[in-house]
Amino acid sequence: MKTALITGASSGIGAIYAERLARRGYDLILVARDAAKLSALAARLEASSGRKVDTIAADLGVQADLRRVEQRLASDSGIAMLVNNAGLGAVKSLVDSTPEELDTLINVNVTALTRLTRAAAPGMVARGAGAIINISSIVALKPELLNGVYGGSKAYVLALSQSLHHELGDKGVQVQAVLPGAIATPFWDRAGHAVDNLPAEWVMTPEDLVDAALAGFDQGELVTVPSLPDLDDYNRMEQARHAMAGNLSRNKPAARYVTAA
Ligand SMILES: NC(=O)c1ccc[n+]([C@@H]2O[C@H](COP(=O)([O-])OP(=O)(O)OC[C@H]3O[C@@H](n4cnc5c(N)ncnc54)[C@H](OP(=O)(O)O)[C@@H]3O)[C@@H](O)[C@H]2O)c1
Repeated sequence: MKTALITGASSGIGAIYAERLARRGYDLILVARDAAKLSALAARLEASSGRKVDTIAADLGVQADLRRVEQRLASDSGIAMLVNNAGLGAVKSLVDSTPEELDTLINVNVTALTRLTRAAAPGMVARGAGAIINISSIVALKPELLNGVYGGSKAYVLALSQSLHHELGDKGVQVQAVLPGAIATPFWDRAGHAVDNLPAEWVMTPEDLVDAALAGFDQGELVTVPSLPDLDDYNRMEQARHAMAGNLSRNKPAARYVTAA
């Protein structure tokens, strides 16, 4: 019996992951703040899939709640997959945001995601099997599209996933970062910018997004960019990044920075 724990499962992308993973035979643990929505989804999925669906109502920005989810991840050896999907966006610039708004975004998008990964990974390594799916965003590659704090948080998720793959890939733990473009979910209204304001050709349904992301997962991709037509575009960027590696740390500054004393 395998179980997937999905954060942010009460709506949007997380709710579709829940449906698709139940269909794939996973029991589920659904996490979000809205207990009523989680219970309704759990009842619907149990009836349609026959899988066992548990819920944890938790605000991942609140330490005590985060610890409850961490404890479940660390103690439940049936958890074979963690989908770190909960997250929030913001369309305000850094200077227009209050410090509290920045904290809330970073606490959920960065801190909670990291701590839940830390809670799940040791058991997966010990079992020699597991999967961690992190929902990043295309703004990890192009932070100028939205505001700097949201883009920064999603660039962190991409970099953490690359680093985790380096650490855990040969220990039986599959890591995937998913980089959605604009997806038609409540995310946009919550961030203060209706999705209808975007050109329709930019906006994908959450169903198409999750199905493409799971196809990328099945293909063993570390990074999945569901909208990108030509994978070579991404691969060229990766090759350029890796090609720089040998020159990024040297014992002398580059000649252009050497000034006459
Ligand atoms: N929609 C897009 O265009 C888009 C594009 C790229 C990436 N993404 C990413 O995709 C992920 C899912 O977003 P979505 O589009 O599906 O938006 P959504 O419908 O607003 O879903 C966000 C989910 O996160 C949960 N959540 C938010 N704050 C939380 C908190 N403090 N504690 C626990 N759960 C919390 C919400 O549940 P509760 O309110 O019940 O807590 C909800 O289930 C996010 O990480 C987002 O950054 C979205």
